[in-house]
Amino acid sequence: MNKKVEMNEWNPEQYLQFKSERTQPAIDLVSRINIAQPQSIIDIGCGPGNSTQILVNRWPNSEVVGLDNSTTMIEKARQDYPEQKWIVGNAENIDPDSKYDLIFSNATLQWIPHHEILLPKLFDCINPGGAIAVQIPKFRNMPISVAIETVANSPNWINYTKGCEELFTFGDMDFYYGILNKLATGVELWETSYFHILNSQESVIDFIRTTGLKPYLDRLPSDEMRYGFEQEVLTECKKYYKVQSNGKVLFPFDRLFFIGYK
Ligand SMILES: C[S@@+](CC[C@H](N)C(=O)[O-])C[C@H]1O[C@@H](n2cnc3c(N)ncnc32)[C@H](O)[C@@H]1O
Repeated sequence: MNKKVEMNEWNPEQYLQFKSERTQPAIDLVSRINIAQPQSIIDIGCGPGNSTQILVNRWPNSEVVGLDNSTTMIEKARQDYPEQKWIVGNAENIDPDSKYDLIFSNATLQWIPHHEILLPKLFDCINPGGAIAVQIPKFRNMPISVAIETVANSPNWINYTKGCEELFTFGDMDFYYGILNKLATGVELWETSYFHILNSQESVIDFIRTTGLKPYLDRLPSDEMRYGFEQEVLTECKKYYKVQSNGKVLFPFDRLFFIGYK
């Protein structure tokens, strides 16, 4: 749980190819937050603003701000939702004097190390009666991660991709409960496996190109090598993600959720 992520810029258009699959966990998480009327909300790692809209839809009268350290993601959010407030910034450097009724984060904290430091820091920024609500993909536990690692650790690639697997941070439920129970007046934890129905095995690669595959591709020096790496990962993926009788491919995606109330 220790490494810093050094990555190239995000590609919001590619990311939004699977907008509904990526946003559903935000919808599910928002629906379980038991606060009637938070006045101030921050969406940490808001990306292109898709998760932020779920917050705005539920609490249209609240002040909602999206924060992300990617300029391309924030530019896309500003372009699509110009009336809303967007900030380029690193969640690790959140201003300790800024206070929110709700700190929300969908599919972002896996890119930030040291959750044992980050979560108490974020919790300090919550007003009494408020909450933190988080969803994190359990990426390293999934077959897709095994497929990527099998290729990344092979002789052709290991010199480029060494250490990439440590760039994803998430703990188990004991870890998060251990942090939250010391801080929160109430805690909820759950997991969901989303069975995405994709058009082909190639779509699995399309789905993770901008997320789980990104740190590996960012390390490779040419388009040709990136293509070669993807093709080898695709071959591995075919062992795990079978084509259904109608040609579709089921892509199970495991995500953990927690809410801590202050
Ligand atoms: C997978 S996207 C999630 C986007 C959106 N929240 C959603 O639900 O689809 C992860 C986002 O986290 C952002 N991110 C990663 N590390 C960050 C950090 N330290 N501070 C702020 N944002 C960060 C990335 O730039 C990216 O936009």
